[in-house]
Amino acid sequence: MRYHQMGLVPRKRHVQFRDPEHAGSNGKAPLLVEEVLGFEGFSGNESILYHLYSPCRVKEVGEFEPITLEEWVPETHVHRLTNTNGAMREGDSVLGRRVLQHNGDIEIGICLPEREAEYFYRDGEGDEVIFVHEGEGVVETIFGDLPYRKWDYIVIPRGTTYRLRFDTPQRWLTFYTPGEIETPNRYRNRYGQLLEHAPFSQRDFMPPAELKTHRERGEHDLKVRVRGGYQDYVLDYHPFDVVGWDGYVYPYTFNILDFEPKAGRLHQPPPAHQTFQGPNFVICSFCPRMLDWDDEAIVLPYHHSNVQSEEVMYYVDGEYGARKGVEIGCITLHPSGLPHGPQPGLVEKAIGVKQTNELAVMCDTFRPLKLTTLSRELDDPSYALSWYEPSTGTTASA
Ligand SMILES: [Fe+2]
Repeated sequence: MRYHQMGLVPRKRHVQFRDPEHAGSNGKAPLLVEEVLGFEGFSGNESILYHLYSPCRVKEVGEFEPITLEEWVPETHVHRLTNTNGAMREGDSVLGRRVLQHNGDIEIGICLPEREAEYFYRDGEGDEVIFVHEGEGVVETIFGDLPYRKWDYIVIPRGTTYRLRFDTPQRWLTFYTPGEIETPNRYRNRYGQLLEHAPFSQRDFMPPAELKTHRERGEHDLKVRVRGGYQDYVLDYHPFDVVGWDGYVYPYTFNILDFEPKAGRLHQPPPAHQTFQGPNFVICSFCPRMLDWDDEAIVLPYHHSNVQSEEVMYYVDGEYGARKGVEIGCITLHPSGLPHGPQPGLVEKAIGVKQTNELAVMCDTFRPLKLTTLSRELDDPSYALSWYEPSTGTTASA
């Protein structure tokens, strides 16, 4: 996102840099271990961290446990409603994440953790986004402590060792991608700075607030997501042993209410709400805003055949005018191949409405999504018929 520095770093890269708080037996303080954590080999964004111990150091290698997603292949191709309010609290902050939809570009899931994970965790091969529907706490990371609150997107780049600490019960929408989570290219100038017309600025993105260097020894468990599974390790030191770091790669939060929504004389299309981009998908924020002000405006979305896109919408708060029978915590899936739009009666009802209090997170993927058996458990089959009016059949929106 932007250059940031915390703690102590030497004046130049790749030079001798010794632990400022520790004198060695030969009179010299031990050298710190420099780690370049970067994307795309050495061509993408990177940060440089200075550790007390080698980040390669492991005391024991534990089990590798493959991740298995039980697939649900529905017998019919229809619009779907997934009511996550039917999901039970389960697991911890890592293993409690349960995937609902996925393809090779992204996994979309929910997490209602019963407890914090006691082990440290790192996604070795993918970026993660946690949208905090409910809850507050702190993400403790090698880059420092990152406080979070309700309606934050927490973006955690691969390679970040972290652990979540909860202050309140949690309810999350979760994303994992083997690609990179970024702000949309079209919001940035050629130097990477966000443009004036972007719906957010660098000030809205919160880096870790405080770097704590842990010097304690003793056994610490680490779980790393790699190669479609979780590899366990045991360390003999605390993994948050970083004395300082700087660079462009680090976890951050962005609160959805800091997204400045666009309104127009006539309807603004979904790309106006785009917040993040990834390979073959986008994440959008539908926030409270003024609605289209032309006297003849239709203030709800027009029907659209997103023939090359699958639309997953998670309802966070407020009332979503274009959907009937959808409550907070529900997910609608409008798959490719089928047009969708407001249910009958809603367009007429919305004419003249000046503002909306809807709050929703949308993920559009360009490649088809597979469903898991959790989608089947939470599926409301009546949604597919929610556009049907047995008594009419003549008008679409009356
Ligand atoms: Fe749509």
